Order: sequence, then structure tokens, then C-alpha cells
Amino acid sequence: MRRPTPYTLSARLYDVISFEWPVYRAGREAAFELLNLPGGSHVLDLGCGTGLNFAGLQRMIGPTGSITGIDASPQMLEQARRRADRAGWDNVSLIAADATALTTSDLSEAPFDAALSTYALSLMTPWQAALETMISATRDGGVVAVVDMQRPVGRAAAWTPLAKLACRLGGSDIEAHPWTAMPERLDKITENAVRGGHIQVRVGRIR
Ligand SMILES: C[S@@+](CC[C@H](N)C(=O)[O-])C[C@H]1O[C@@H](n2cnc3c(N)ncnc32)[C@H](O)[C@@H]1O
Repeated sequence: MRRPTPYTLSARLYDVISFEWPVYRAGREAAFELLNLPGGSHVLDLGCGTGLNFAGLQRMIGPTGSITGIDASPQMLEQARRRADRAGWDNVSLIAADATALTTSDLSEAPFDAALSTYALSLMTPWQAALETMISATRDGGVVAVVDMQRPVGRAAAWTPLAKLACRLGGSDIEAHPWTAMPERLDKITENAVRGGHIQVRVGRIR
């Protein structure tokens, strides 16, 4: 049986206790800016959690696009479903699955125009398998975005103990750096970093 994660236990509180507004929202907004998806895009959100990316994605893709959200926690997906229903987004499909064990054939809506994972790959073991799924589920010329965490740098390094604590409480490995594998598989990588380098953002194109 799968062990309960912080996300099975605190799904209802996640949006409030996850430092979304003061810290992590900036990373997803930076990703949306780099992604700049056209209306009608079909998007995979891997480790979608409660769906905090959905509003930003919907802003770009509109009602003719779609979002497929995958998460291992049914409790997080329940919150994501509530968010979608409240907003009247009928273009959101949610799937409960372990992203490290998925193949493209499990994803009936593949190939996607874009795949995104925010603050999630660094929780997954092995994250390489989940990144590979994102890449293989995206069409040629489509885009893959990763937003994840590292220790803050420069003057912001003073915040390292707090950043490490936030990652530990969330179950993520601050040393995982999943974006570092993107250049091997993707072209034209654009990047940004926010919050003193703690949040790293990468978007690459499928070859
Ligand atoms: C820190 S939350 C991030 C959620 C969302 N992406 C966001 O930006 O708010 C990490 C999410 O990854 C999910 N997760 C962890 N391991 C997973 C796995 N192996 N497969 C799918 N989802 C997983 C957790 O259930 C949780 O919802």
C-alpha cells in the first residue's frame, strides 16, 4: 500500500499553507510567460496537485484547449476537480496515477502540444522517468516546461534554511534539479529564475 504523503493529509489546506502567494506563484507565472501558448493548445500538467496552474493555462488556451492533470494523490485531485467545477472549466480531465510509472499509451489525449510540471518532479523517484513521460507525450515541435526548486543563491543564500525546510515539509529533494536533464532531450531552452534563484524555470522544444 502507498504511504500517505503530505498531500494526502493536507490537500484541503495546500493552497493556503504552500507559500503560494509570497513565493511560489512567481515561478508558475514565469513559466506561463515563457510558454506563451496559443489558444486551443492541449496541455499535460504532471503532478498537477490542486490545479494551481489551471487559471494561468486557461488564460492562454481558452475553451477550445484542454488540460489533462495527473497526480498520485486522489485528495489533491479532488481539490483540482472542485477548482475546475467552480470556474466552469469543462475542458479539464484528471487522472490519478504515479507519473513515474506512466507510459504514453496510458494517456489517451496524447500527443499534447505542451507538458508542464511545477514543483512536482523533485518529489518523484525517479523524476527522470516522469520527465521522459512528459517528453514522449508531447508532439514534435511542442513544448515542455519544468518549474522546480534549488537552494537560493547570492545574497538570497541567507534564505537557504527556510527553502530547505519548505522543501523537506513538502517532500521534495532540493538537490534533485530536474531541469538539468532537459538539454539532452530538448532544443531552444529558455530560462528564468525567481526568488533569489530558489525557483528555476525552463521551457524547451521537442526536437
Ligand atoms: C508540491 S505539490 C505541487 C502541485 C502543483 N504542481 C503546484 O504547482 O501547486 C507536488 C504534487 O506532486 C504529486 N506527486 C508526488 N509524487 C507523484 C508521483 N509519483 N506521481 C504523480 N504525482 C505525484 C503530489 O501528490 C503533489 O500533488
